[in-house]
Amino acid sequence: MITGANGLLGQTLVALLSEFPEYDLLATARQQAPLMKTNSGGYQALDITNSAEVKRVFEDFTPDVVVNCAAMTQVDACETDKDRCWQVNVDAVETLARNCLIHGSHLVQVSTDFVFDGKSGPYRETARPKPLSFYGKSKLAGENAARGAGLDAWSIARTVLVFGDGAHGTRSDFVRWVVRELSGGNRIRVVTDQLRTPTFVRDLAGGIERLVRFGKVGTYHISGREELTILEFAHRIARTFGLDEDLIDPIRTADLKSAAERPLNSGFLILKAESELGYRPTPLDESLSIVKSILAASPA
Ligand SMILES: NC(=O)c1ccc[n+]([C@@H]2O[C@H](COP(=O)([O-])OP(=O)(O)OC[C@H]3O[C@@H](n4cnc5c(N)ncnc54)[C@H](OP(=O)(O)O)[C@@H]3O)[C@@H](O)[C@H]2O)c1
Repeated sequence: MITGANGLLGQTLVALLSEFPEYDLLATARQQAPLMKTNSGGYQALDITNSAEVKRVFEDFTPDVVVNCAAMTQVDACETDKDRCWQVNVDAVETLARNCLIHGSHLVQVSTDFVFDGKSGPYRETARPKPLSFYGKSKLAGENAARGAGLDAWSIARTVLVFGDGAHGTRSDFVRWVVRELSGGNRIRVVTDQLRTPTFVRDLAGGIERLVRFGKVGTYHISGREELTILEFAHRIARTFGLDEDLIDPIRTADLKSAAERPLNSGFLILKAESELGYRPTPLDESLSIVKSILAASPA
């Protein structure tokens, strides 16, 4: 069972799992209708903050595995609407975990590099979390809700700056934003001082599938391998898509004056996922070329 299946990761994970005949899938999301193009299984509208609905869906479907891809992911909105953020990112994870305990389900909770303060990245799984933003705090509390529920099987899949493959989701990702703005001849401001290991969503979905298949318990860092600034990332996108790099203006994080503080030196070391899951992320330029061909075939 996938929650948040209409999101960037949710859609891609449903598409990937649909390739495996051994998975009997239930995709769930807030919307009445599915947005994903490929789904070998059923679809059910589900708001994970509605505990009565969650209970009913668990009773109907009795999932062996639940991958929680639902979250309030807008970092600045979490800073200004803390109640809503906590309901989705923490309270609802507690509800999922409680139901997993009743039904003996494996809970895979997706989390973020924003649980770290960005002072000493790239991070391995054993690094001590210290979130700067309310979003980061809520995601850490969501991890703890999954970890501390007494489940036999739980996994935390942390990831970093995820970019997509043309899924028609409810919101854009960084690559599509850069491509859209530069294609329209618009200037964009991109930060020079935030380091990340950007993650191709298909790689992330593949890593999660391996977590599920191998029944792995614990915390895993599943991201790209290449660490670069978000500014460098924007330039790599512009070059791959043949767009005008002169439209990219460098800016320092402090000058953006965002509601939420972001980690500066973030990103992950992925040795554990490589050695225990056989996780092998696609080289960055290759994944950008794949996104380019998908967007050309089906413009977002
Ligand atoms: N994208 C990144 O760069 C990134 C980086 C690190 C970690 N992550 C983590 O990766 C996971 C997947 O995020 P994503 O990148 O796929 O983001 P996304 O596209 O924003 O997907 C999140 C989905 O959750 C849904 N959702 C929100 N509240 C819900 C609720 N109450 N019930 C059911 N669904 C709800 C959203 O629906 P609506 O659109 O209708 O609100 C959205 O479709 C999240 O845990 C996120 O924290 C993402």
